[in-house]
Amino acid sequence: MVTTTDKKNVPNDGDGVTAVDVEAALPVGNAPAASTTSNPAVQPQETKDQEQAIVYIGMDLGTSRTAIACSNGVRESFPSLVGYPKDVVSRKLLGADALFGKDVIAKRLSLNVYRPLEAGVIKGSNGAGDVSNDEAAQNMKAARELVMHAIRMAKAPADSLVYCTIGAPAEASINNRHAILEAAKEVIDSVIICSEPFSVAYGMNVLTDALVIDIGAGTTDLCRMHGTMPEAEDQVTLDHGGDVIDDNLERLVKKNHPDVQFSRQMIVDAKEKFSTVRPTAEPIKVTWPVNGKPTEIDITEEMKEACFSIIPPIVDALNKLVASFDPEFQEVLRSNVLLGGGGSQIRGLAEEITNYMKEHLGGGHVRQVEEPIFGGANGALMISKDMPPEYWEQLG
Ligand SMILES: Nc1ncnc2c1ncn2[C@@H]1O[C@H](COP(=O)(O)OP(=O)(O)OP(=O)(O)O)[C@@H](O)[C@H]1O
Ligand SMILES: [Mg+2]
Repeated sequence: MVTTTDKKNVPNDGDGVTAVDVEAALPVGNAPAASTTSNPAVQPQETKDQEQAIVYIGMDLGTSRTAIACSNGVRESFPSLVGYPKDVVSRKLLGADALFGKDVIAKRLSLNVYRPLEAGVIKGSNGAGDVSNDEAAQNMKAARELVMHAIRMAKAPADSLVYCTIGAPAEASINNRHAILEAAKEVIDSVIICSEPFSVAYGMNVLTDALVIDIGAGTTDLCRMHGTMPEAEDQVTLDHGGDVIDDNLERLVKKNHPDVQFSRQMIVDAKEKFSTVRPTAEPIKVTWPVNGKPTEIDITEEMKEACFSIIPPIVDALNKLVASFDPEFQEVLRSNVLLGGGGSQIRGLAEEITNYMKEHLGGGHVRQVEEPIFGGANGALMISKDMPPEYWEQLG
């Protein structure tokens, strides 16, 4: 499912959102040539667009990290965090009304911190997350400012048009997609929302005979690629992603080392530095306080167990996608599984999923994509550039 809206570069103009299904319009099957030729979308306004350059942006608007890849060569990635100063003193100290990304982590004690996406969608949209109306509004504001910040990073000239494709979880509901469109429409002239694993596959030009798994923070998205546009039954979104690993690691460390003091951020940092599912991993040691005294503790087993916890549900979902496919092609799918997303950086993950598949499904082969962080954004950029004329004619 792909959804579009069109805003003619008028900030705060309160445009209605037009949702158009363009699945049939996207070219798949062959190498998507990255065309930057004259865009049919803008032909009706030829005069205007001869003056206005178009900057295409692919955006992976993730729960934990936002990445952009742009037609002007800009590539950026930053934590999906927005922070507002807690009071006038912190406002004066920080010298800004809002901070984003790494700055939020560094200055978090002076900030009200928002991570506006949860399980890949804006918190509070369609009742997503357990939040009040007030919180939902705050998260919507933070999400909008996050998108604006990402677009600012693209450094598009002020008078250019911004055409952006945004990756969302494979099974995000219509309301969730609508919320993303709402967040985007003030700063983007035209937007497509596509499924995250599809954009990863599209970016790698793997459009057939493959199963793509995008392991994010809030969700893991799986998508079966078979030479046509994936449909609902080709995609599965699991709630098991990096956040679940963090929950498990936190629980295990608390259980096995009850006196050690640590924060959630310390858990995440340790995971991102040492994550592994290798049975023969080197000892993993962190120095964390016990009664205020820095103390070395060994968290090797906790790390391996926490990281491994996502493998069974992923293989189970993968098997459902394989088993419900044409029996003649099941073997091909099973032996061409691609892993992308931040969570795919766990050491030994592709090998261990392969082993687990062999043990439980009788075979399989898994490999990691080349660019786990930018894969989704790269693919979204290619989709932006490949929009065919039929599609653009549908815009109001
Ligand atoms: N080296 C690493 N080892 C293990 N996990 C990692 C590593 N680096 C990042 N991660 C985890 O990857 C997750 C983020 O991945 P990614 O940036 O693809 O997610 P996202 O797109 O923000 O989330 P989602 O797709 O769920 O919206 C986080 O849980 C992060 O802690
Ligand atoms: Mg993601």
